[in-house]
Amino acid sequence: MAVKNSRVKNIAAKENCIYFATDFKQIRALELEKAKTTYLKNNLNEKNNVIHFNELGVHKVYVLFKPTANENKNLEKVRILGHILFKKLNTEKAATCCLNELSLNENYTYALIEGITLSSYQFLKYKANKKEKANVFCNLKVLDKCISTKAFTTVNNIVESVCIARDLVNEPLSYLTAPQLSNELKSFGKKAGLKVDVFNKKKIESLKMGGLLAVNKGSVDAPSFTVMEWKPAKKVNKQPLVLVGKGVVYDTGGLSLKATAGGMDHMKCDMGGAAAIGGAMHAIAKNKLPLHVVALIPATDNRPGGNAYAPGDVIKMHSGSTVEVLNTDAEGRMILADALSYAKKYKPMLAIDVATLTGSSLRAIGQQGIICMGNADETTKAMMKDCGHRVHERLAELPFWEEYGEMVKSEIADIKNTGGSFAGAITAGKFLEHFVDYPWMHFDIATSGWYYKAQSYRLKNGTGIGVRLLYEIAKTIASNAK
Ligand code: BES
Ligand code: ZN
Ligand code: ZN
Repeated sequence: MAVKNSRVKNIAAKENCIYFATDFKQIRALELEKAKTTYLKNNLNEKNNVIHFNELGVHKVYVLFKPTANENKNLEKVRILGHILFKKLNTEKAATCCLNELSLNENYTYALIEGITLSSYQFLKYKANKKEKANVFCNLKVLDKCISTKAFTTVNNIVESVCIARDLVNEPLSYLTAPQLSNELKSFGKKAGLKVDVFNKKKIESLKMGGLLAVNKGSVDAPSFTVMEWKPAKKVNKQPLVLVGKGVVYDTGGLSLKATAGGMDHMKCDMGGAAAIGGAMHAIAKNKLPLHVVALIPATDNRPGGNAYAPGDVIKMHSGSTVEVLNTDAEGRMILADALSYAKKYKPMLAIDVATLTGSSLRAIGQQGIICMGNADETTKAMMKDCGHRVHERLAELPFWEEYGEMVKSEIADIKNTGGSFAGAITAGKFLEHFVDYPWMHFDIATSGWYYKAQSYRLKNGTGIGVRLLYEIAKTIASNAK
């Protein structure tokens, strides 16, 4: 549930409207009544950059934004202004509002739409009084000369995809079991034009996905493994981009049980990687990117039930390697390893896994951005980091030196699933590296998949982080390959 955006040719005098300027001249050119222009001239400035007039119930909002040389920072500031505008209109109980971006900069119009729409998201499914709780502001009418039809459609598809991801993360385990996650992926995936296959437990057993099956042993619900594919006729790549998402629909820690108070409260967010990948695939298909992309989503809950896997167990993985389990709470890497190993059959040009993998990553950088590491070449890494700055889902790379690999060596098996108390995010990455033989990056979103506190248009609870970043990366790969 979010603001519905439409395009309009004209704005009537009696309509609510946002006038967004990058130079006061643009406001002067509106030829408002003289006293109003003078008032705005004297009061609208860099600090006080939003002025609102309520003219007998008609809301006119004037915004002055002074761009700097850093275009990425400008875009983020404009998104944040979008958030401020949304809050203003909503508290003023304006149901609709027009948007006139006076500098006619399509990128700023785009960013305003992102900031406004993403701020309007609500998760009201479980509220009896949905109508009362729903935001009043629900329709943004964008003046058509401010943005092309194509960019308008693109941004709407992207914000819709972020909201899909947020919904998935916000859904509790009582609804979103692993098979239900697959149902959801299938239902919105097919609507967007994706091919979606869901493997059930039998199929997962026949594929010998020992990691996924081990984590699932304590659960009463079956595991699932979802394959989503976008293979357009005009694809520019020979080998696909493969996206892998951690779909732990709930993480109790298993027998290495987390503390119920605090430690487990938000663990429905442990499928944030799956949600990001699902959302990104939705955006890629809806915007018809000319790129072959495959998504792999292993899913289960992690519980200490009857036959739960136990510390000390040795598990034979899909790849044939063996893993000594020393902590059942390090379950994400067990299921991702099987998916990364399964990905080999696609001979990926590049694979990216996204996962709420380690508390260590959250301790390292807090809730800003995403931790990354991997074996992809420096050009690819730089491209991804650029994408991160553009969409403000920034990547922070950790060292990935060989020596860290020593920390996951096991005495009894090929590898163990914990690396000790130091460098936890890195040793988790080193564990995953064991299962890839292609260019690969690992994104740890335990940092920001769930917000305990809102940061502007990045609302609290499920953030949907990763959707905009992955879409930007796929788009960049597609345009670089042309
Ligand atoms: N799902 C957690 C990581 C997590 C932490 C996600 C905070 C979101 C917010 C993951 O499965 C986990 O428990 N990791 C352990 C690994 C350890 C046992 C080696 C961790 O990071 O403590
Ligand atoms: Zn865990
Ligand atoms: Zn987990």
